[in-house]
Amino acid sequence: QRRPRVLSGIQPTADSFHFGNYLGALRQWVALQDDHDAFYCVVDLHAITVEYDPKALRDRTRRSVAQLLAAGIDPERSTLFVQSHVPEHAQLGWVLGCLTGFGEASRMTQFKDKSAKGGADRATVGLFTYPILQAADILIYQADRVPVGEDQRQHLELTRDLAGRFNHRFGKTFRLPEPYIVKETAKIADLQDPTAKMSKSGSSPAGIIDLLDDPKVSAKKIRSAVTDSGREVVFDPENKAGVANLLTIYSALTGRKISELEDEYAGRGYGDFKKDLAEVVIEFVTPFREKTLGYLDDTAQLDAILAAGAERARAVTEPTLQRVYDRLGF
Ligand code: ADP
Ligand code: NA
Repeated sequence: QRRPRVLSGIQPTADSFHFGNYLGALRQWVALQDDHDAFYCVVDLHAITVEYDPKALRDRTRRSVAQLLAAGIDPERSTLFVQSHVPEHAQLGWVLGCLTGFGEASRMTQFKDKSAKGGADRATVGLFTYPILQAADILIYQADRVPVGEDQRQHLELTRDLAGRFNHRFGKTFRLPEPYIVKETAKIADLQDPTAKMSKSGSSPAGIIDLLDDPKVSAKKIRSAVTDSGREVVFDPENKAGVANLLTIYSALTGRKISELEDEYAGRGYGDFKKDLAEVVIEFVTPFREKTLGYLDDTAQLDAILAAGAERARAVTEPTLQRVYDRLGF
């Protein structure tokens, strides 16, 4: 009996992951490895779609892997690897690009957002086609589920469309993957602008909590988070986006129900609530940071984990690509 397969990736484009990445995606990665055949990758090919520095990229790739291990990804149970170590991703990406309409690719809203930031005419073709490479990342593993945040839903739709199109034209080859989006934490908000998502490119430093920040700094960011002029700690995302976001983070980190938290803070105002959440955050990030630094201390071990991961990944990707090439007439 084949266990359902899960695939997800994360870009090594920052020194640290943030709470949106962790609560929206990485936490699910960890949970899913119990009953899934899991493939998790650091997608360095995606990281070069924007301006970058090679030395920083190498360092951030290692830091990303160390953080995944610290978060609880177990490289014995899950296949943990770096995208560029597995050439079939890029090879299938080219094939899928030839099946994607230019207009279809132009409708990806994340490209519009990201390219608008750097000036649209400075955006690379790689940034434009990155959802196609992402489709290849997923399809090459025949993944059933893809744990992501809400911002990736449109890319998953494209992935399914491309899989269906290939199957229709060339014969059934790919599984159609489902997005796995945990509603409660699908969009962690910016602490200073709670109507926007917390994002490494879009958030101000005060609006984003990096997992590797000094815990005291993170606690302060929670205490200074934007709320509203009321004083009731209730979950009302429409009218009280800031408080709702803090409740979401509190609940996710402690496993306590939001209704229980509402009861606990009834009539106590925002001050106590934020102070307690700041403590919860410190308790989470302090050991996380220590573990990450521990993994970073042993680069030989990290490299060995990644070499083993790439080998396991290629055992899947090589036969898939062979089948694809065969169907294409190569
Ligand atoms: P960013 O959006 O900060 O550039 P990435 O694109 O590298 O981060 O996202 C990595 C993963 O984290 C993706 O699955 C994405 O959906 C998820 N994610 C990113 N930001 C958030 C957020 N604010 N809330 C929930 N999930 C998020
Ligand atoms: Na994103």
